[in-house]
Amino acid sequence: MKRISNLVVIVIAPLLMAALWMDKQPSPKPYQAPVLVPPAGSVPITGREVASRDSEPKNPLTPNPASREQGQALFAINCAMCHGQSSIERGPVGKKLKPPPPGLDHDLIRERSDAHIFNAITLGFGRMPPFKDKLTPHERWDLVNFLRVRK
Ligand code: HEC
Repeated sequence: MKRISNLVVIVIAPLLMAALWMDKQPSPKPYQAPVLVPPAGSVPITGREVASRDSEPKNPLTPNPASREQGQALFAINCAMCHGQSSIERGPVGKKLKPPPPGLDHDLIRERSDAHIFNAITLGFGRMPPFKDKLTPHERWDLVNFLRVRK
């Protein structure tokens, strides 16, 4: 008798309850993407970066040697083909552009704020492509710190 009541509690009752609620669940049609609706009033705490040209993001990184070294490595990979390994000579792609990209020398960089440089890298600048989806914000700030000391 005990075994039968155990069977009812453990197996049959949950199945019956599940059957009661079965119609109260989202049931998308084949190939239809399920619509995930966030609960009313909820606010996202993570998500896409909101970037705009006139925002003034603050540099969260200390411009220390480690950050600049990281920026230098990233510059060699992502930027040097256009702007040149050093500001004296443009890179192979930059030489083909007419007019060529700026050399990003001290005089130019000195006149630009950290936020301006960060936004230019994030959103692109004229003919320069955006790096929003290619580099993390941390990596873009490393680049800003490197550009300040680049020769
Ligand atoms: C495809 C070539 C190309 C690449 C790659 C490129 N840039 Fe540029 N960049 C340009 C051009 C061209 C301009 C000038 C805008 C124009 O003339 O349309 C520019 C402008 C800039 C400016 C703005 C200068 C100003 O006057 O305010 C900064 C800063 C800059 N680039 C940094 C970078 C960094 C950092 C990287 C790498 C993450 C990079 N660029 C990658 C072509 C490039």
